[in-house]
Amino acid sequence: MRETRWAALLLLLAISAAGAAGRKEKDGEKVCDKGWECSGSRFCCNETISDYFKADQFEELFANRNDAQLAHAADFWDYQSFISAAALFEPRGFGTTGGKEMGMKEVAAFLGHVGAKTSCGYSEAPGGETAWGLCYNHEMSPSQSYCDDSNELYPCVAGVEYYGRGALPVYGNHNYAIVGRGINQDLLHHPELLEQNATLAFEAAIWRWMTPMKRKQPSAHDVFVGNWKPTKNDTLSQRYPGFGATMNVLYGDLICGQGYIDDMNVIISHYQRYLDLMGVGREHSGDNLDCAEQVAFNPSSKSPESLSKLHCGDQQWTETQTRETGLEEGMELASVSYLASSSSSSFSSGYSRFACRCRRASKTVVATSATGRSGATDSACSETFEQQNLDVHSGPKSSWCFRRRDLASAILLPFVLPPINISRAAEPYDGLIIQNGVRKFLTKGKAAGVLRLVFHDAGTFDIGDKSGGMNGSIIYEVNRPENAGLNRSIKLLGKAKEEIDSVQKVSWADLIAVAGAEAVALCGGPEILVRLGRLDSSTADPAGKLPEETLDAAALKTSFSKKGFSTQEMVVLSGAHTIGGKGFGSPIIFDNTYFKVLLEKPQPSSSGMAGMVGLRTDWALAEDDECLSWIKIYAEDQAKFFDDFRDTYIKLVNSGASWRTA
Ligand SMILES: *[C@@H]1O[C@H](CO)[C@@H](O)[C@H](O)[C@H]1NC(C)=O
Ligand SMILES: *[C@@H]1O[C@H](CO)[C@@H](O)[C@H](O)[C@H]1NC(C)=O
Ligand SMILES: *[C@@H]1O[C@H](CO)[C@@H](O)[C@H](O)[C@H]1NC(C)=O
Ligand SMILES: *[C@@H]1O[C@H](CO)[C@@H](O)[C@H](O)[C@H]1NC(C)=O
Ligand SMILES: *[C@@H]1O[C@H](CO)[C@@H](O)[C@H](O)[C@H]1NC(C)=O
Ligand SMILES: *[C@@H]1O[C@H](CO)[C@@H](O)[C@H](O)[C@H]1NC(C)=O
Repeated sequence: MRETRWAALLLLLAISAAGAAGRKEKDGEKVCDKGWECSGSRFCCNETISDYFKADQFEELFANRNDAQLAHAADFWDYQSFISAAALFEPRGFGTTGGKEMGMKEVAAFLGHVGAKTSCGYSEAPGGETAWGLCYNHEMSPSQSYCDDSNELYPCVAGVEYYGRGALPVYGNHNYAIVGRGINQDLLHHPELLEQNATLAFEAAIWRWMTPMKRKQPSAHDVFVGNWKPTKNDTLSQRYPGFGATMNVLYGDLICGQGYIDDMNVIISHYQRYLDLMGVGREHSGDNLDCAEQVAFNPSSKSPESLSKLHCGDQQWTETQTRETGLEEGMELASVSYLASSSSSSFSSGYSRFACRCRRASKTVVATSATGRSGATDSACSETFEQQNLDVHSGPKSSWCFRRRDLASAILLPFVLPPINISRAAEPYDGLIIQNGVRKFLTKGKAAGVLRLVFHDAGTFDIGDKSGGMNGSIIYEVNRPENAGLNRSIKLLGKAKEEIDSVQKVSWADLIAVAGAEAVALCGGPEILVRLGRLDSSTADPAGKLPEETLDAAALKTSFSKKGFSTQEMVVLSGAHTIGGKGFGSPIIFDNTYFKVLLEKPQPSSSGMAGMVGLRTDWALAEDDECLSWIKIYAEDQAKFFDDFRDTYIKLVNSGASWRTA
């Protein structure tokens, strides 16, 4: 999320550089400015959402959301929160791709998903089943904690619950962490934000809409607006652009590939109703409206472990727990009947049904049948009841409980994020996975060695012939004399890499860049967020490019300027010697002691005293007037040292990097 902020800053800079005028050419691309709602992107040349979707239309779509008796999230959702959230994504094409009609259709499609997922409607409900969107903002009676405690990268936070929340419900610690990253919020610690702040709830939902689940896959946005061309594999799997594929992206085989099931139909019904209400008309629903025959982009996991963990017939389903839940629901009797008979797989109905069937399995039928369920649902429940008792382990298709359990396990599937050229757009890439992977292995004692790795990988950069630089080539260079001892740091990062790679492939160059930043932060230095997406070299960089330890100040300046660094930047980077036991204060505290020591200590004599504290190059800096003026500044102002170090570190880890494209 912080990368995203950084990228957003870049974007802002790019925008301000482009000037305040309405339209500009940038990199040959038209860039438009629609004010606060959409600015700085070619997509903003088209109409924005508030141009064609007004507050009164929002009221029509979600007419019953504030119903005091029935709506569970009355007074929570509003038009402004949707528009504020959408504004963050309009520059990336949300609702602004293609012409006005495509924009309206996309808004109807997105809101159709939201409406279906937050509905408390049922077939006989006033206004019809699809008139009850945005009735919920969180799962009412969570059937489980949704904590995947085998997840080491995003461990559950004690006392925090990861049940479904938001406009497109988020479930489970892993997904909260990833989505939080996407919207720049710490949802792993504060999932409740999605039921407290409607803007954030919409942001999270639109982020999901705009973000592919996995590398090289399209997002729901992409398949809907036609950004995506099916491959042969896709056409073999019946996946074509259209609304149907959005359900495939978001829900996979929970909804798709099962024929014309209610859970799918109800999402389509919401979309089409909204098209009508917005004045587009359902006749413009587009081709490939359903996904009845589609094979999932991401088949849900059926590993025995996830099955057993989420088994709804588990012993934790005691009668006491169930009764308590039943009582809770009893206070909202009217809504319970809505829940029970709704056919959509939303917060309420999906999970109540899950609960219903499992509760019946544990023989607590009383509360549920007292609430006026429809006959159809009742028979489904009793059918399940029997199957549960007779045949609990017979397989996924044999009972609703298994179906629901699969649902839950699939929802816990990690979203794996795509690599993205962040300088192009504020799109997310999950640096947190790398950070967490590194943190597992990094200790303060090892921080200096890891930071040194950064200097030795990036330090080979030559601005003249553009060779060397931050491309992971250090792993081929450990036998060079200047790199003595670095094999330990590489080994340490190798362990982290193995772990991270199992979730999301990371390049050595990214890993080293992040690890160095973590090393600095771990020792109390500034927090540094680095851009991700570096490619690794497959060969060693040219030798002899690192500044030698015997250079004097003039030679050091020359050496750094050949890498594109100013004198000030050279001085600030040298401040890294504050850690690592070179004699500049504590070996494991990153502060400005380095500069203080350079000022205080007597200059080393030629008789080799330099060996006691620091390197010859450290003292060479203090002998140079220009360097000395910076040393004084940093000795006095640690905050400035931290700020400048952060900036220069980022420059360093970007030197000579070649970047992955999306
Ligand atoms: C803007 O809308 C026009 C049609 O009105 C479309 O041709 C164009 O591609 C759209 N621009 C973007 C960036 O989607
Ligand atoms: C909701 O979150 C947004 C975005 O972080 C923030 O601007 C807004 O103030 C929050 N609203 C409330 C009511 O806290
Ligand atoms: C095609 O689809 C199958 C099954 O979904 C998958 O295993 C395979 O990797 C895909 N091939 C390509 C080239 O995407
Ligand atoms: C990333 O995007 C920027 C801005 O559009 C562009 O200059 C740069 O070449 C891109 N990098 C890659 C690797 O595509
Ligand atoms: C690192 O390399 C040195 C020799 O260059 C070797 O003695 C040492 O055992 C190696 N350390 C590790 C952790 O591989
Ligand atoms: C670093 O390595 C990559 C991958 O081999 C290469 O494309 C790039 O040119 C190298 N960087 C420089 C500055 O040569």
